[in-house]
Amino acid sequence: MWGGRFSGSLAEHMRLFNDSFPIDRRLWAEDIRGSIAWANGLERAGILQANECQALIAGLRQVAQEFEEGLFLPLTSDEDIHTAVERRLGDFIGALAGKLHTGRSRNDQVATDTRLWTLSALKLADDLIRDVQAALLEQAKSVGDAMLPGYTHLQRAQPVLLSHALLAHFWRLDRDRQRLHDATKRVSVLPLGSGALAGTAFAVDRAALAAELGFASISQNSLDATSDRDYIVEILAATALLGVHISQLAEDWIIWSSAEWGFVALDDAYSTGSSLMPQKKNPDSLELARGKSGRLIGNLVTVLTLLKGLPSAYDKDLQEDKAPLFDAIDTLSLTLPVVAGAIRTARFNTERMVAALDDAMLATDVADELVRRGVPFREAHHIAGRLVREAEQRGVGMRQLPAESFVAAHPSLTDVAGLFDFARSVAMRDVPGGTAPNAVRDQLIAAQHVLAEG
Ligand code: ARG
Repeated sequence: MWGGRFSGSLAEHMRLFNDSFPIDRRLWAEDIRGSIAWANGLERAGILQANECQALIAGLRQVAQEFEEGLFLPLTSDEDIHTAVERRLGDFIGALAGKLHTGRSRNDQVATDTRLWTLSALKLADDLIRDVQAALLEQAKSVGDAMLPGYTHLQRAQPVLLSHALLAHFWRLDRDRQRLHDATKRVSVLPLGSGALAGTAFAVDRAALAAELGFASISQNSLDATSDRDYIVEILAATALLGVHISQLAEDWIIWSSAEWGFVALDDAYSTGSSLMPQKKNPDSLELARGKSGRLIGNLVTVLTLLKGLPSAYDKDLQEDKAPLFDAIDTLSLTLPVVAGAIRTARFNTERMVAALDDAMLATDVADELVRRGVPFREAHHIAGRLVREAEQRGVGMRQLPAESFVAAHPSLTDVAGLFDFARSVAMRDVPGGTAPNAVRDQLIAAQHVLAEG
């Protein structure tokens, strides 16, 4: 393919080192789509006769069919998907195959193929994330007004609705979807026609190529276009963060599933046992989901590091971009359906959740009540804090403190029994975005809308 100026051949280990076919063979469909568009472009530019163009396209379709049916047999000389397709095209249609690469380079070709692949990958990722969101929403709707302790610093803080706690993860995932969606306009830029680095010398209509391949725009600079992998970094950054969000969700649920919490039980379908300890039921689905985030973060670091020292235009280093990109999407394809399944089939123990609520979690409500009775908040905070301490010293819940203790803490603290009600505490937080049942109902509707938008 490039042998003309060489008299020797590649060392065997160098050939293996240089080959990317094992990794980029999965770009076959995009490579062939791009080549069909390129053949049409060459014909429109007057470089190919109509019958030549048709023969090239028919041959390319034959190659596509072989890949489709799993019948493609690579040769050791098939360095990458581009050379493999062209070689096989030659097997089918002979010397005419040699006209296809006119004015094109593998540099603009691989950039085009990878972007085409990425556009479908973004669609897939969106569907996968959306399904995890749907699973969270279904559970959030099914648990009614069940309450549990909300934690900060993993210490009991204030009561919240379980639906509210579930939906917290929904919105993070929604931002992940937005980030990936936002990257689409930068992915959907056609590099084809950039040649190796300087642009093609034939009058190919790049806008027509873009239209044929479904790109939204064409690149403005051939040096940039053949080496622009920004979109891969963006996607890997978005998927790394998505991995972090999935990991955080998994961590919440892993903690909840321990006997000490006992808030959730994963279905057997998403748990595994121990080869030694007969009683064990481990949340491996979520642990693996948490673990996979490491790969997603690693993929981002790989590509950033790859790009850091590169001079302008294409360098072979760029061939290393695909493994991390593919791995990110493959990892999500494995992880997200499992996470969605684990969420959908989980059973919540809402009695355990209620039992974990303690009166001290209402200390803020006591302070808020003092504020309503005219005490400045800082002072109210102090008074409520002293009552918490007193209850702790006496070894009782706050509500068991004698009426005199409240009045001693502040003369306005008469009639406090009504404050010691977790449902009341939750209902008071009735701002948009708060945990009150009313506010959460609006949130459920908003979440429903987000999913209905597609
Ligand atoms: N397989 C290469 C890649 O994935 C494309 C080939 C570019 N090769 C070259 N010698 N310029 O980046």
